[in-house]
Amino acid sequence: ENRAKQAMLSAHQLVGKLYHYVLTETPYGKEAMTYLSKRGLSPQTIADFQIGFAPDSWDFVTQFLQKRGFSLDQMVEAGLLVKSETGNIFDRFRGRIMFPIHDSQGNIIGFGGRLLETASASRQQAKQPKYLNSPESPLFNKSANLFNLHRARPFMRKRKQALLFEGYVDVVSAWQAGFHQGIATLGTALTEQQARIIRRNVEQVVLCYDGDAAGQEATAKAIHILQEAGLIVRVAPLPQGTDPDDYIRQHGPEAFSQQVLLQAMPVTAFRLKHLRASHVIQDETDQARFIEKALAIVIELNSPVERDLYLRQLAEEYSISLDTLKWEARRLYKQQK
Ligand code: GTP
Ligand code: MN
Ligand code: MN
Ligand code: MN
Ligand code: MN
Repeated sequence: ENRAKQAMLSAHQLVGKLYHYVLTETPYGKEAMTYLSKRGLSPQTIADFQIGFAPDSWDFVTQFLQKRGFSLDQMVEAGLLVKSETGNIFDRFRGRIMFPIHDSQGNIIGFGGRLLETASASRQQAKQPKYLNSPESPLFNKSANLFNLHRARPFMRKRKQALLFEGYVDVVSAWQAGFHQGIATLGTALTEQQARIIRRNVEQVVLCYDGDAAGQEATAKAIHILQEAGLIVRVAPLPQGTDPDDYIRQHGPEAFSQQVLLQAMPVTAFRLKHLRASHVIQDETDQARFIEKALAIVIELNSPVERDLYLRQLAEEYSISLDTLKWEARRLYKQQK
């Protein structure tokens, strides 16, 4: 079994190099290279992350692995190849920009492949997912690994903070902009195991998910999991409809630092902001209902000092006496017990 794993690791290492070579040194990678440079990724960044390209071929990697004596069935198990119902074996990744995914020691254990949208191939690609990841395999456990962890770890420790992104490209783009403490999940929701891995390295996480409904929802779920693991969580505000990569490209690293990362909100402030955004307050009844929901958020805080600070804010914002708010908070708290 160990031997099988070794073969799978060495195949991933070789195929990672192959994809990178195809992208950077051959005509097959030209279109992808143009696409990446239009997206603002430098040759240095492409090299840093060993980004590659899987040519639009059914047997390019299959042939490569076969020539090097790998068992093709084993390579199917490793996720590099696919076996059809009729027993044909072919390349899993075709016509995709390849992001190698490493374990914490820096071994490649899987890939995330982004469709290269080309005019000529668009009809065929219409039903393809934008991202195709390696499947779960003896090497690749999506809930126990994080994209870029092996590179980011020393920077996380130094900054005492991790930046958690939704997409590989966000991590890469942030890295290029000088933010090296960025990691991402592997195309699935954050798991408890991943949160514990993060907690082993830092105490604080800044959540930088996409500024859309899906990102907000994922943020709410991630907050809970990260807090359960004992992490202090802040939420970076991204303008509606943009993701960190978009933001960095449009506004630059300085703005990302000042307007996004440094504006990251404590969880309670984030929740209150969302509550405000989702409530139309037209009269006193609406306002009272809003206040009650806001208090339900505030009383979840363990620190009496923090609770007091938010209560004061609410009192001021909605012109309610602090005593009344405190009294109401206490009533709600007892009700919940
Ligand atoms: P770009 O469109 O290249 O800028 O990528 P993005 O990172 O902005 O992609 P998006 O926000 O749509 O998705 C974020 C992450 O979710 C990706 O990095 C993937 O891990 C995952 N993801 C997105 N689309 C798919 C998909 O079609 N299938 C799977 N399995 N995962 C996806
Ligand atoms: Mn750098
Ligand atoms: Mn998204
Ligand atoms: Mn995105
Ligand atoms: Mn994006």
